[in-house]
Amino acid sequence: MKFFLSLTLLANLFFAVAQPFKLPGLKYDYADYEPHIDALTMQIHHSKHHQAYVDNLNKAVKGTKMESTSLIDLMLYAGFRPDAVRNNAGGHYNHSLFWEILAPKDKQLEISKELDAAIKAQYGSLDSLKKVINQAGTTRFGSGWAWLIVTPEKKLMVTSTGNQDNPIMDVSKDRGIPIIGIDVWEHAYYLKYQNKRVDYLAGIWNLLDWGIVSEKYTAALKDSLLITIEKDNWPALKDFHKVMGQTFHPSETGNLQPLKTRSGELLAKALLLKSSTPPASLNKPAIQEAMSKLVTECDELNKLVLKNAKDDVLTKKIASTHDTFHVIQGLCND
Ligand SMILES: [Fe+2]
Repeated sequence: MKFFLSLTLLANLFFAVAQPFKLPGLKYDYADYEPHIDALTMQIHHSKHHQAYVDNLNKAVKGTKMESTSLIDLMLYAGFRPDAVRNNAGGHYNHSLFWEILAPKDKQLEISKELDAAIKAQYGSLDSLKKVINQAGTTRFGSGWAWLIVTPEKKLMVTSTGNQDNPIMDVSKDRGIPIIGIDVWEHAYYLKYQNKRVDYLAGIWNLLDWGIVSEKYTAALKDSLLITIEKDNWPALKDFHKVMGQTFHPSETGNLQPLKTRSGELLAKALLLKSSTPPASLNKPAIQEAMSKLVTECDELNKLVLKNAKDDVLTKKIASTHDTFHVIQGLCND
């Protein structure tokens, strides 16, 4: 039963064909999480709150290109998505993980040797780790989540995010694959604990299924998503991309005004990109070379704009500059 549910959840999370997104079933009855989480809270949280994230996510992507985008990709580039997608994709993923890692005491599995050793090496003991996660949860202002993640360096890290963001998203400071996510929205605990988030966090550990968390740890270490996240962690490239997109794409339909007013900014972003440090896996000669070429082309483009060059000359030049940028992006994906 558990195996079947895990497969369903995985399929729902990772494959585009899973759309429209669906509310995953819980492994246990609402009352089975008592006394640490009361049945009514579980019922409302799962069947109303999570269902609303699923419904609103389906609504937000309907009729757009995102209808064929996986949940992971929706989140990876959340900074470029409408708020409704960012919030509801996060809400769906975060809650799906939360349900998966909770189990009544008598159904919980043991922690693996590997995860136990990693926790002891980094935090000293399981109790110390729980304290760090509780601290992240109690100090999260307003609504949000406390996380234990596996970073691209394959280390454990405790972090927290606001609202329904999560560490897979490009908008998050600390990034990696979550293996524990604790919901610290009031809707997760208010009926039983009222405003006492500390008491809720103390109680939640009784429901943590370390066996499932261990499976997630093993899977995360092998997940190519870690490589994607590592490569994506290059703010200067994203800054350049934004201005490139806002100047190049209008030029494709004959509107050169954005380029004419922002060619200096485009050059400045190219220079910042060239002087930035790429993520470790991208720090290679071919990328450095392409960045130098990009700076030269942006400089030439800016000079043409300043000389009031003809529109067809500018259109041709920005197209070739855009091609060079895509050489860098292509190399990033090698
Ligand atoms: Fe929640």
